[in-house]
Amino acid sequence: MATGRAHWGSRLGFVMAAAGSAVGLGNLWKFPYITWENNGGAFVVVYLAAVFVLGLPIMIAEILVGRRAQLSAVPAFETLAGGGRRGRAWSTVGWVGVLAGGVILSYYMVIAGWSLWSFHKCLVWSFTGYDAASLGFDGFLKDGVLQVILTAAFSLMTAGIVMRGIGGGIERATRIMMPVLVAIMLYLVATALTMDGRDEALAKLFVPHFSELPPQGVLLAVGQAFFSLSLGLGAMIAYGSYISKQESIVRSALWVVVLDTGFALLAAVAMFTIIFSVPGLQDRVSGSTVGMLFITLPDLFYTRMPGGAVLAPLFFVLVAFAALSSTISLGEVVTSLMIDRRGWSRRKAAAICSSVVFAGSVLAALSVGAVAPLSQVEVFAGKPGLLSTLDHLAANYLLPLGGLGTTVFVGWFLGRPALLEELGLKRGTISFHLLLWILRVVAPLAILALLTAVLAGWDFS
Ligand code: PHE
Repeated sequence: MATGRAHWGSRLGFVMAAAGSAVGLGNLWKFPYITWENNGGAFVVVYLAAVFVLGLPIMIAEILVGRRAQLSAVPAFETLAGGGRRGRAWSTVGWVGVLAGGVILSYYMVIAGWSLWSFHKCLVWSFTGYDAASLGFDGFLKDGVLQVILTAAFSLMTAGIVMRGIGGGIERATRIMMPVLVAIMLYLVATALTMDGRDEALAKLFVPHFSELPPQGVLLAVGQAFFSLSLGLGAMIAYGSYISKQESIVRSALWVVVLDTGFALLAAVAMFTIIFSVPGLQDRVSGSTVGMLFITLPDLFYTRMPGGAVLAPLFFVLVAFAALSSTISLGEVVTSLMIDRRGWSRRKAAAICSSVVFAGSVLAALSVGAVAPLSQVEVFAGKPGLLSTLDHLAANYLLPLGGLGTTVFVGWFLGRPALLEELGLKRGTISFHLLLWILRVVAPLAILALLTAVLAGWDFS
């Protein structure tokens, strides 16, 4: 086992960085739009169930693996499984995660780049006055050069921070960004709730009508839970490996889950309310649901909110930051593997990994409108375009697969002793049995059912 491994600088260090990883475009961009596509209410209920029944226990399991091994995912599985043949076999779980990390990173950078564009738009509006008609989102998607430039800017920022390492880069950056983001988000929601569309929006989001939930919605909710909590690819294993033994894994995990879910719900409340309040917005949003974040919020800032002209550009900077704290953790998954495995310096590992991922990003950036063949690939029915294809591949196949491996590994292979030692739970208590039962039985069966459904050709769109 590695000795002298870096640790988070403070007790809050892990929670902040892990929440920074979890809170990101998954909450602000993806959750509102898939909730919209899946008709709200019932989808939210299923999502919450997935978060607390599957997400929380698997997050605990991932952090446990990282801290116990003091290594990133691939070598962690290998070492804890006892090395040799068995170690190699278990390390496949880590490799699936690394693959997922690279895939997600490649398209995530593209959407993250959009926040830089929105920042620029808002800056202009703040000086010249808001003009909803001048948004030009569709034209923006088709501008390949701009898409690649924004993506490149984001890749460089990510690589720069990952290079500086734990503590110096990641921890410091997230500790400053997260609290400001929370404050702005709360102000946004409070303002949104003064709008006429409030009741309709809240009913749409929180009154479940199960007959309106498409069957795939259940599966989609589970995939989104993994994605949003950054699970199934070893991000929490890597971050967990820097946690000190004194910290409570269960409490940290609970914090991260609650913060992440709270954020997703707040974002959805704000966006749904705006959509139901501003005439004509429903049509614009439905035309490009993936762009909901970038289409809806300016309306609120500029037409409703005291101080909105100042907060709008600031908000999109923070969206970029939230995305950055997620891309950092994805970058860390791939980079820490190369450091632990190959003995590369952090600098070299980050530079090489970023370059490889960037090649994929360019293709994803060109697939949102600029290059027709890339926009038309349709591997998953109803989800044309390389970007959506990669998103589906990662969220619906790779993350659940990684999660399955982890929960089986911790539940059955490491089993009771690890839970007792690492989590400070007492044998015979309800929480111990519940956790063990979920990790051993409930989570594996649920994920298996999910994957079987995917493989049997259920449409996930
Ligand atoms: N959880 C992040 C988000 O919601 C995305 C992410 C997934 C980050 C997996 C790291 C690992 O935006």
